[in-house]
Amino acid sequence: MLELKDITLTIGQKDAAQDLLSEITLRLPPAHFAAIIGPSGCGKSTLLKAITGIKSHTRGSIHWNERDLEADGDMDPHEIGYVPQFSIAHELLTVKECVESSLRLRVSNLTPDELAARIEKVLGSVGLNEIGDRRVALISGGQKRRLGMAIEMSSSPSLLLCDEVTSGLDPKSEDEIVKLMHLLAQSDGRIVLSVTHSLQHVSLHDSVIVLYEGVLAYHGSPKFITHYFGITRPEDLYLRLAERKAHDWRQSWHKHRPAYYEQSGLPPMTVTAPPVTAPPKQEEPPKPEPAAAVVELSEADELERLRGIVEKKQKGEPSEPAPPPIKKPEPKRKSPSPSPSIFTQFSVLLSRRWKLFFRDRGQVLLQLALLFGFPCLVVIFALDGLEPVKNFSTQIGASFLEQAMAEKNITIEVAQVGTLVSGLIMFQVILLALMGSNNSAREVAAERNLFEKEKFAGLSPLAYVASKVTFLGALVVAQSVWMTVFVNMIVGFQGEFVAQVMSLVLINAAITFVCLGISSWLRSAEQSSLLSMYLVGFQLPLSGVVLALPKAIATVTQIFIASYWGWSGFIRSMESTRYYDAIKQVTQTEPAGGFLCTWVLLAHVVIGIFFTYTGCKNSRWE
Ligand SMILES: Nc1ncnc2c1ncn2[C@@H]1O[C@H](COP(=O)(O)OP(=O)(O)OP(=O)(O)O)[C@@H](O)[C@H]1O
Ligand SMILES: [Mg+2]
Repeated sequence: MLELKDITLTIGQKDAAQDLLSEITLRLPPAHFAAIIGPSGCGKSTLLKAITGIKSHTRGSIHWNERDLEADGDMDPHEIGYVPQFSIAHELLTVKECVESSLRLRVSNLTPDELAARIEKVLGSVGLNEIGDRRVALISGGQKRRLGMAIEMSSSPSLLLCDEVTSGLDPKSEDEIVKLMHLLAQSDGRIVLSVTHSLQHVSLHDSVIVLYEGVLAYHGSPKFITHYFGITRPEDLYLRLAERKAHDWRQSWHKHRPAYYEQSGLPPMTVTAPPVTAPPKQEEPPKPEPAAAVVELSEADELERLRGIVEKKQKGEPSEPAPPPIKKPEPKRKSPSPSPSIFTQFSVLLSRRWKLFFRDRGQVLLQLALLFGFPCLVVIFALDGLEPVKNFSTQIGASFLEQAMAEKNITIEVAQVGTLVSGLIMFQVILLALMGSNNSAREVAAERNLFEKEKFAGLSPLAYVASKVTFLGALVVAQSVWMTVFVNMIVGFQGEFVAQVMSLVLINAAITFVCLGISSWLRSAEQSSLLSMYLVGFQLPLSGVVLALPKAIATVTQIFIASYWGWSGFIRSMESTRYYDAIKQVTQTEPAGGFLCTWVLLAHVVIGIFFTYTGCKNSRWE
């Protein structure tokens, strides 16, 4: 049973306060299919979001199976399914894979056989079995809506909320989906609440909730809509609504609700909320048309009796006992199984991420181009000065004359080699920073709605972030290790190889995870990419390696500039070689100590991951 008592949702403060929902009170019994209808902007989606908890209501309470959700805690993610209007599946997965990953993320302890059987059952329930192997990108709009429902049905929720899942569909597809929702409401005692603009299929619903400017104008059987609103066809409803003020509709409904509830077979309200605002001078409720003229003959008697009840109630007379409404048996539902462990969710997400990566040919090609192209670019810049670099430590000759000549040229060569080596190191650092931002700038932002959806269904943000960190960590290691190995192989840098690899891995990881943090906080992938590009763009000038920064600025900025720490760490790995002296000759910026570099870059990585986690924990529905 779902019960809303006086749900009010206000935005803005004081004079600017506006009620998006105002004192919505209704009850829905199990095994019930209800439609929410009303003109655009009347608060239909807001009402669904208030029920899900995505938007917090300001006043009132929501009760689920006699549980006050505010006092006794939210619904279990298994109990509720929410199908929003936006696309909710990875385009590169097949229909079956989407359902499979959703099942594995939501339902624990499924054996492979059970999993296969559940996938088939869920796909069968929405009629998608035949296209199970088709990629989501290739299926039609109507099929996508079905898939959205299939994904929600994977945890077999007791309450299914669907927001305009039929809009934009052709009449046949719309018909099929409404019938599908009707069917879903008949199994397992499920309540299905569907927002729709269309009045074509109202008769298929057990009850219809009519909203107008945030107020409840009617909730009852679709059979009585025309009668209640005094219209001849349901299609005239919107015009009729516009004829009276929202407040009047609320007052009118408040007066007539008990009678219509009784006739509609809806459970009576336990608490009848008095109107919060003082009612204005009462206007008569809309005068019903003669019942026989607007409803089928079989309903006329019911309506006659209904009118009698209403009139008696108005006069304060006791009404005759109504025939008991036809109650559907309340089927027993299994208690929901716990969500899979964080580790299970992590492994499902990680394997899905790799699958998506390999299926995205453009992304794979770009990664390969960067992986092999960037080190080649570094080497191309080294080619001209390669000989002096390679021979730098052995070039002082044995003979006195040769030694004298070498010493004469040494200043020039030191400057050349120092500039080249420092430049090559910085070039590697910047290219790896660029790769880092390319790795993660869109990672969370581009799939935010999908992630929010999965989080709503019980996905742990920790499992999600861990899967991202592991996936991106693998890219970072591959990119940085290959860069160090390849460039060293050709250029022949000396010094501690492990420290060099470490410096490059850490600079790449620092930018990758800071950009991941950015992408988890920003609203769109475009914004996140742009900010990440700025971050990389500032790495070279603010590092102080090319042009020395004023000391006061350098002290403040350098701590944030990962490239400075990556460059310093690499330079320090050469401390025992002559390169180090050569570099010191040509740069005014003192490289930081190797140990410090490692810790600062590690701090960047940890802060980036921490920000990612907080950004992912925050709800960010569109
Ligand atoms: N965060 C918000 N800030 C200000 N106004 C909002 C906010 N969210 C919703 N609204 C307003 O609340 C009203 C109800 O919005 P809602 O999305 O619930 O309408 P709806 O009935 O679902 O409309 P539609 O049929 O067009 O989808 C609209 O006027 C909308 O502009
Ligand atoms: Mg809406």
